[in-house]
Amino acid sequence: MDTRIVAADEAGLTEAARLLLSGHLVAFPTETVYGLGGLASRIESIRAIFKAKDRPTTDPLILHLLDPNLEKALKEGWLAGPLPASAVALAREFWPGPLTLILTRGPRTQREMTAGLDTVAVRCPAHPAAQSLLRQVGEPLAAPSANLFGRISPTDAEAVRQELGGKIRLILDGGPCSVGLESTVVNLVSPVPEILRPGAITADQVAKVLGSAPDIQRASSKKEKAQIAPGQLASHYAPRTPLYRSESPIRFFHPDFFHILFRKSEDPISQNAIVLTTDGNLESAARQLYRALRTADSSGCHAILVEPVPEGLWADAIHDRLTRASSGTAIWNGNAWKLLRGMNT
Ligand code: TXA
Ligand code: MG
Repeated sequence: MDTRIVAADEAGLTEAARLLLSGHLVAFPTETVYGLGGLASRIESIRAIFKAKDRPTTDPLILHLLDPNLEKALKEGWLAGPLPASAVALAREFWPGPLTLILTRGPRTQREMTAGLDTVAVRCPAHPAAQSLLRQVGEPLAAPSANLFGRISPTDAEAVRQELGGKIRLILDGGPCSVGLESTVVNLVSPVPEILRPGAITADQVAKVLGSAPDIQRASSKKEKAQIAPGQLASHYAPRTPLYRSESPIRFFHPDFFHILFRKSEDPISQNAIVLTTDGNLESAARQLYRALRTADSSGCHAILVEPVPEGLWADAIHDRLTRASSGTAIWNGNAWKLLRGMNT
């Protein structure tokens, strides 16, 4: 199948909506990462999404809504009541935006979309192209990130082509994503609200709206914790090249390694290196992280070394993705790097 990238302008959006309404899949931009969209109401589209991504059917998809009004989604049967007051408050504060809420599945939401669960993840994206597409389609879209299962989420149209080229007809190009990491996922069906996936909306921001701190599920490399929530695999978002997290700032560059740095280095920097932030701003580091991992992956280097994430607003989300992507820990022993598998926590 020929995969075309088209600008998310009027013609592109019209074509994308037409393809979706006739049961095809289309990749489209959101503010977090690119999504692989299909009609949520159509079982064939849901199945095609799992197939294109090579995603296990036990890993539920997110329902993308145009309207941030949860009452409307309830009335239309996508959700089942009663709506928790916390959900209404969080949606009012952060939608449209990079926040996904786990709520009770309504009769109109396909069971296969939620991997058989009685809950459903819902999100209202802020990207204007995603909104225009949802408006033209006139109904919600099921959309996971537009990458092969377990791989790095795409943050631009070309990265989608690298992942899904030949498997889908159309990629809508809306430029690079402004957030660059997947949405924060908050479970509101559990007895205490819990953050299943940290993202641009921080735990503190959620706590402020809820009036109390949510529980936080942390990524772990332990195999027995491989699935801490549906689809929350410990190993995920991974490049093909093994990634090691350095215990200390990287001062020594190895010619066969690719180095990902978080600070302005006074030292000469190796050619095989990317500095994610030059001023400690983790928002721009998050935006560039996945692109940097793709560059590292295609560099031909044997390993990727990442230095510690500095403290800051988005540190949790970056730390979470790096933990899931990593194979172990890198230690500088004074004259060489030691790479230890499975030592990350
Ligand atoms: O930013 C995002 O959320 C992007 C854009 C495209 O919207 N989408 C995305 O989808 O990251 P995906 O499928 O790659 O990740 C969805 C996450 C998975 O970890 C999945 O397990 C979790 O949400 N999830 C979905 N439904 C769930 C449910 N009912 N209960 C618990 N977790 C759920
Ligand atoms: Mg994903």
